[in-house]
Order: sequence, then structure tokens, then C-alpha cells
Amino acid sequence: MDEAPIGIFDSGVGGLTVMRAVMRRLPAESIVYFGDNARGPYGPREIPEIRRFAVEIAVFLESLGVKIIVVACNSATSAGLLEVQRRCGVPVLGVVEPGARGAVQATRNRRIGVIGTVATVRSRAYQRAIHALDAGAHVHSRACPTLVDFVERGEVKGPRVEKEVSRYLAPLARRGVDTLVLGCTHYPLLRPVIEGVMGDGVRLISSDEEVAREVEENLARRGYLRESSRPSAYRFMCSGDVEQAVALGRIFLGPEVEKVEKVELPLGSVGR
Ligand code: DGL
Repeated sequence: MDEAPIGIFDSGVGGLTVMRAVMRRLPAESIVYFGDNARGPYGPREIPEIRRFAVEIAVFLESLGVKIIVVACNSATSAGLLEVQRRCGVPVLGVVEPGARGAVQATRNRRIGVIGTVATVRSRAYQRAIHALDAGAHVHSRACPTLVDFVERGEVKGPRVEKEVSRYLAPLARRGVDTLVLGCTHYPLLRPVIEGVMGDGVRLISSDEEVAREVEENLARRGYLRESSRPSAYRFMCSGDVEQAVALGRIFLGPEVEKVEKVELPLGSVGR
């Protein structure tokens, strides 16, 4: 099992922020990444539909022989993590609980802001996860529907995105939050802009590092960490526009994104 890759998926390129953290922490591990860019963004979709996509992709990744799956999408985690866990034979980790834990540990005034897609905010998954750890924490959430589009276009700085981020974050700043959860795996790419708007007094929490640590612990405890001296391999797949996936993948992850394989929907098993 230790030679098997880790499977990671998102609705597009956002999950590459999680993949990058996993690559840094576990350089010996091979990874298969799937971006559902034909159907993303998921944020505006209905929760049952997102859940169906998440199950379909996880079952597909399992058919490729992965040893663990990371749902590197807050919308998909919020909508369908439990169902994916029920349907898969390998361990499945999501991104909401690690982010919630990081926020609860970091906040001093116990006022936590959460930004995410409409689906994530509507699901109240962060409220539940935060209150499971600190029932007295105050959680203020805000859906930021247009930010994913900025990131998917590669527009991560400049006056237009700054204006949009300020508009979304102003009400949270007024509530006095001292900790802000970036509840969408696309948002770490906007970190400098978000930091600029919120100022030094607010800590930003993104789940990528927390998730990478959890992947390591899960693999280590099961004895699944890869120990081979041969180099690790990265495989990228998407359901939609390959050229766009390569271009954005190179910007957001790096030169490791040499080639992206197109997989037709509905997903079936392709060669290992
Ligand atoms: N990156 C995703 C998330 O974490 C999804 C963005 C979207 O598909 O709307 O929610």
C-alpha cells in the first residue's frame, strides 16, 4: 500500500493549494490530482448535486488505486464528506475540520470569521465544526461568490479584486473577528490581498498545512508512508479544458504540472 499514490480532488485548481502543502510535507509521496473544471465552480450548485459529484470522483480515484483521498474542496467537504467516507474503502479526509481546529486554537477573542462559497456557508459545516470544539465561540460567516472566478481567471491581485475582497470582508471586520478562516481552497491564492484588507490584527487560517499534517499522521499510523528511493510521481487529471488547467496549474503549483490528462464525464476507470 505504501507505493500507492494519494488522491486529491477539487472542482478546479483550488485544491492545488492543498496538494502543494502535501508535496512540501511529504516529498516522497506520489499524488494523483483531479480538477473537475468541466463542472466547477461547485459553490453556486445545490448541495445534493455537489455530493453526487464528490462521490463520483472519489470512487474514480479509488479505482486508480489511491491509498487515501483528500477532498480538497470546502464545498464538496461540506456537502458530501460523510457520504464519500461511507462509499469508499480507503480513508477520506476533508478540509473543514482541520480549518476549524486551526481557527479555534488561534483565536484570542473567540470571534471567528469564515469566508467561503455559497454552498459552504449555506451548509453551516464550519459553525458545526467550530462549535464541536468550542461551543462558546462566535462564528460570523460570509459567502464570497465571485472570488473563485477571479482565481480561476488567474486574477489574484490588482484593484478589481482588492475592491471585491474589501466589499466582502467589511462586515466581518466590523464584527471584530481576530481570526479568519479561508473556507475555500481557492482563497490562499488571494492571501496577500485578504491580509492587506484585514490588517495585521487578524490571523488567517487556511486548511492546507493542517490537512497535510493530517495526511502524514494518517499514513504514518497505518504504516502507509512511502519509503521508496525512487522519485515520487505526480499525475494531473481534469474533466474540462486541458490547456486552461495546465496554464493555471503551472501558475498555482509550479512546473510539476507538465501535462494534464482529460477524463470524460461520467467518470469511469482509466489506466493506472
Ligand atoms: N475550491 C473550492 C472550495 O474550497 C470550490 C470552489 C467552487 O468550486 O466553488 O470550496
